[in-house]
Amino acid sequence: MVTHYPTKRSALVPTLLYAQDEVGYLSDEVIAELANRLGLTELEVRNVISYYSMLTTKPRGKFNVQVCTNIACMLRGGEELLHHCSKKLGIGHKGTTPDGLFSLEEVECIGGCSWAPAVQVNYDFHENLTNEKMDKVLDEYKKRGTQ
Ligand code: FES
Repeated sequence: MVTHYPTKRSALVPTLLYAQDEVGYLSDEVIAELANRLGLTELEVRNVISYYSMLTTKPRGKFNVQVCTNIACMLRGGEELLHHCSKKLGIGHKGTTPDGLFSLEEVECIGGCSWAPAVQVNYDFHENLTNEKMDKVLDEYKKRGTQ
């Protein structure tokens, strides 16, 4: 990864994303390792992590459900959808289910405005959602996560 960029530091964000996918979150050990490999201080790494909402230093569920409530989604039921997900999963914003399967987040625009309301689960998009469609989406992930 480092050889793809003119400076080592430029590899930080993509490297953090890879590490997070591998480990599940950015642990103290991951931060120390990346800081060492990229010639940065741990504080510099933590500063970058704190800037990007998709990076986390806390463990998340296997499926991270991000519900957009920004303007286009809000106008098409995004807030109600978030409330529905919260009720169905029994967790609030930034919460994780006790079985570690799901975490839930309210997020800003994820670029699916034309198909609002939109939800992103890990790297997959789900659009034009209703509560009923969202139930099917969550049930499908649950099935996948418990197989
Ligand atoms: S406003 Fe929700 S995806 Fe853009």
